[in-house]
Amino acid sequence: MWGGRFAAGPDEVMAAINVSIGFDRRLAKQDIEGSLAHVRMLEATGLISAADSSAIQGGLDTIATEIREGRFPFREAYEDIHMNVEARLAELIGQAAGRLHTARSRNDQVATDFRLWVRDAIDAIAGQVGELMAALADKALAHAGAVMPGFTHMQSAQPVTFGHHCLAFVEMFERDRGRLADARARLNESPLGAAALAGTSFPIDRAMTAAALGFARPMRNSLDAVSSRDFAMEFLAAGSILAVHMSRLAEEIVVWSTAQFGFVRLSDRFSTGSSIMPQKRNPDAAELVRGKTGRVIGAMIGLMTVMKALPLAYAKDMQEDKEAVFAAADTLSLCLAALTGMVTDMSVNPERMKAAASAGFATATDLADWLVVQLQMPFREAHHVTGRLVKAAEQKGVDLSALSLAEMQAVEPRIGAAVFDVLSVEASVASRASLGGTSPDNVRREAQSWRDKLGLQ
Ligand code: ARG
Repeated sequence: MWGGRFAAGPDEVMAAINVSIGFDRRLAKQDIEGSLAHVRMLEATGLISAADSSAIQGGLDTIATEIREGRFPFREAYEDIHMNVEARLAELIGQAAGRLHTARSRNDQVATDFRLWVRDAIDAIAGQVGELMAALADKALAHAGAVMPGFTHMQSAQPVTFGHHCLAFVEMFERDRGRLADARARLNESPLGAAALAGTSFPIDRAMTAAALGFARPMRNSLDAVSSRDFAMEFLAAGSILAVHMSRLAEEIVVWSTAQFGFVRLSDRFSTGSSIMPQKRNPDAAELVRGKTGRVIGAMIGLMTVMKALPLAYAKDMQEDKEAVFAAADTLSLCLAALTGMVTDMSVNPERMKAAASAGFATATDLADWLVVQLQMPFREAHHVTGRLVKAAEQKGVDLSALSLAEMQAVEPRIGAAVFDVLSVEASVASRASLGGTSPDNVRREAQSWRDKLGLQ
């Protein structure tokens, strides 16, 4: 491509460090879309003839077919996807191929291709996040009234419902979708036409190529257009937060599916056995979702480190932007599919959940609140009295609701039989009917509204 100035080809090591076709071949579809938009614009502005334009478009169509059918010769000798496509175009249509690169550089070309690729990845991943949310909303509706212990410090705190717990993740994933949508809106501007870095002397129509590629508008500064990769960093940042959220859900699944908890059982399709311990049902997929978080965060740190302190405009360092993004998108997609499958398939054990909720004195707060309301006790005193009641129950080896009235009155004589109404875990969750609270009615309504929002029948 630059033979004019060079007497010798590159050293083997030079070629090895420079070559990117092994990974940027994933930009093939976007590269052809970008070239088609560019050539149509060159024709519309009179920069190339209609005949050359149609030859180029025909050749690009052939290349697209070759790629789709796995027949395209990706060749290391042509370094990257842009030069592979152009070289193949020359083989297919001859001389006219040389006119495609008029008013364009690989710098605006790669920036365009990569934006298009990340945009597609965002759309696919956001769609998958929606599927995971739908699976969680379904489980939430089915188990809106299933009482389980809610935890703080991983210690039994207050009863909540399983549906409420599922919907907490739905809220988190909705914000992830929002972050992806924000990133998409910001990235959706066209760098094409910025050329190498300074713009071009040809009278191109950047609005036309921007519109053809579905961009909202052309970028306003040619240096920025070829130098910036914040769109990819933002995708990785949003993806990293998504990965963190997925890993937290995965961790819950790991814990819930232990024999000790037994809150959920993963399906055979999403469990693995042990080669030595026949009783094992391992949650490998959940553990891997948890573990793969590091790859996504690593990709974000990696790209930020590549971009840090790079002078404007393009530098070849930026060729290092792609692999991390591709890998992170693949990882996010795989983890989303695995989590969605696990959640959809898992069976929930409300009896085990209820037993656990009833075991950890989880209604102690309800008892304290009752003392405040019924006996007009200051909360601090109620807290203290409840603490002594918990101690009594603990010594007897029973839950609060299993203490006799006499045993309670030994601690606080004014307690009456009505106290038992608030000591059940069901009464506890039903009473949490404030906005955002865990009451089954709230949860049912929220789950239904998520299912509507997500378009579920
Ligand atoms: N393969 C290159 C990349 O991904 C394309 C841009 C090359 N531009 C250049 N001036 N050498 O960054």
